[in-house]
Amino acid sequence: MSQDLHQSEPFYDVNRTYEDNYEQGPFGAFAEALKRDEAAGGAESGSAGTPSDRSAASSPSEGEQGNGVSAPTDSFLGVPVNLAFGIPAGPLLNSRFTTAAFRMGFDLATYKTVRSRAWGCNPFPNVLAVHPRSADGSLTPGSPELDEGVFADTNYERPISISNSFGVPSQDPDLWQPDMFRAIAAAGPGQLLVPGFQGSRVEGMTEEEYIADHATTARLVKETGAKVMVMNTSCPNEGHNVLLCHNPLLVGRIAEAVKNEIGDTPLMVKLAYIPDDAALELMVQSTVGRGTVQGFSTINTISARLVDANGDQALPGKGRDRSGVCGHAIRGAGLDMVSRLAAIREKSGLDFAINGVGGVVTPDDFAAYKRAGADSVMSATGAMWDADLAHKIKASL
Ligand SMILES: Cc1cc2nc3c(=O)[nH]c(=O)nc-3n(C[C@H](O)[C@H](O)[C@H](O)COP(=O)(O)O)c2cc1C
Repeated sequence: MSQDLHQSEPFYDVNRTYEDNYEQGPFGAFAEALKRDEAAGGAESGSAGTPSDRSAASSPSEGEQGNGVSAPTDSFLGVPVNLAFGIPAGPLLNSRFTTAAFRMGFDLATYKTVRSRAWGCNPFPNVLAVHPRSADGSLTPGSPELDEGVFADTNYERPISISNSFGVPSQDPDLWQPDMFRAIAAAGPGQLLVPGFQGSRVEGMTEEEYIADHATTARLVKETGAKVMVMNTSCPNEGHNVLLCHNPLLVGRIAEAVKNEIGDTPLMVKLAYIPDDAALELMVQSTVGRGTVQGFSTINTISARLVDANGDQALPGKGRDRSGVCGHAIRGAGLDMVSRLAAIREKSGLDFAINGVGGVVTPDDFAAYKRAGADSVMSATGAMWDADLAHKIKASL
């Protein structure tokens, strides 16, 4: 099984640094797709090309879904797309990655979370394979294993579960703005570039300044021509293991400031797993209920203590005893959040979109999220280790 995984080289190479991936990636089948695109007239890497260039570069199975002739039948935050399936914020570092994702049939490609300023990456390594104890490889929120220690190493196996520890790095806006512009222009017919962004908390910042930083970043994103955007509130931004989305009222105030900046551009909020229904309802009421947010993307990773074979801290460095687990292990938690959000939507009568994320590694996982109430679905870990996932899902429909 693990041999199988060696053959499908991930488009983000976990054996290289973030910086090398940014400069040299994507890899594997995504690199091949980019080469075909360039050969077909896409010219410079990351440049838009013409619509006919893009359909010429499409693979046959992509062409069946979205060859630029038939009208898109699905939508994401009101924007028509071929199939509302794609890759969430994370492994698509820049326009070369997002363009390759489009060419591989992922109709939603999220540009990795950007900030108002350049922000460094955690030291290498940033990814490890994780091996939960349970027979089905799942990790349940609240399980003692998350604190006792989850075994992590470099042996990547199917169904794939990993941990990622990046610290949400960002280029300076002077670099990411023109690159995001290129990424948006490179979408094929029925495809959509989804920008991700978040606020940055720096020492000495007041709460008002922190809120304003979100609004500034959203404005910078809007300037690139973004049709929609996703605001990340689900990373440890508020201090070690403290998440912004655990403070729904603050998210509400931030969403209001962002809305004032971006007007009618649809805004989605990225959430981590929230165990408490009352807190989730408060999140919905203080954002959607105030007309500032049109959807939620959920879940992000689940925090776990990572240990090596000796039971010692698996990732090197201070503050890295815990790290976020994603992939197959968190599928159940993601489905749970999506169905609870769908129940709140039903009960409240409020209208908002749900983007289901977490452990989608097969077409069956995609179908399970749709059944749970997701309007759209995304896969980060699953797509990294299976560049054909979008084609497989389309073939299964
Ligand atoms: C390599 C990698 C980097 C990630 N970086 C981000 C990020 O910058 N912003 C964000 O909101 N989520 C980030 N995520 C989380 C994913 O968007 C997603 O919520 C999570 O991985 C669960 O989905 P999965 O099980 O399909 O991987 C990252 C995930 C991975 C695998």
